[in-house]
Amino acid sequence: MMDRNADAPWSKFDPEVYVDLNYRTPLEVDLLIVRLLRDYFSRCFAGGVPDSVRGVDVGAGANLYPALSMLPWCEKLLLLEYARPNVEYLERQASPEGYDAVWDRFWDVLREADAYRDLEPRNRFGEIVRVERANLLDLDGQRRWDIGTMFFVADSMSECPDEFRRGVRCFMDVLNEGAPFAAAFMKESVGYRVGEHWYPAYRVNEDRVRASLEPFTAELEIHDLHHMVRSGHEGMILALGRRNSAIAAP
Ligand SMILES: C[S@@+](CC[C@H](N)C(=O)[O-])C[C@H]1O[C@@H](n2cnc3c(N)ncnc32)[C@H](O)[C@@H]1O
Repeated sequence: MMDRNADAPWSKFDPEVYVDLNYRTPLEVDLLIVRLLRDYFSRCFAGGVPDSVRGVDVGAGANLYPALSMLPWCEKLLLLEYARPNVEYLERQASPEGYDAVWDRFWDVLREADAYRDLEPRNRFGEIVRVERANLLDLDGQRRWDIGTMFFVADSMSECPDEFRRGVRCFMDVLNEGAPFAAAFMKESVGYRVGEHWYPAYRVNEDRVRASLEPFTAELEIHDLHHMVRSGHEGMILALGRRNSAIAAP
């Protein structure tokens, strides 16, 4: 029996344990991803930033760096997440106390680039970020955003190939035509443990990621990052691109 998204213990997801496992001590591969995000979005907006850009991070969980990478470009930034403990974690991060110091190391990499340098990220994060509980698989293109990220979600929420492809499609359907996006995937993940609980994954490689994204993209670059984070997967895949014409999507 394959574990479907609805079968996993999302209500027991522990964001503090997850941060300890993944982000408390920044990994080289995450810092590399942050550099690639920073430089890609800077290139996308090199000709100027349009008025009122709205951004979204889908399945934001306990990771602020995708949202931080969108900070200079956005007037509003929405973090969508399904697991209640993660929703509460994100609401604390966006509260007036400011986000946790653990995220400063990631901002240090972002602020090496011009667009980020003069921003005061903690205040701005508190000002423009909103958090909302939502199921990725229910997003049907009714609401769309101008820039978006989805990190380790479509591949890290179910064992089913159809739910992986649907997750990618739902993410693509929240993007307006031409919207820059970044999506990250664990390569060949067999699932992952957070504290006492086990969460499902669908095994992807570069080809599967490309095949799932290509119908929706006008521009697509895939970085196959051969870094081991823990046993049980073989590295990370980062996809950077732009949404094609929404009408052409199958
Ligand atoms: C491996 S974590 C990734 C979290 C974070 N984006 C990161 O980069 O570390 C998977 C995330 O997907 C969320 N998730 C699982 N099923 C979801 C669904 N149906 N809709 C939205 N988010 C979901 C989980 O709660 C969790 O936050």
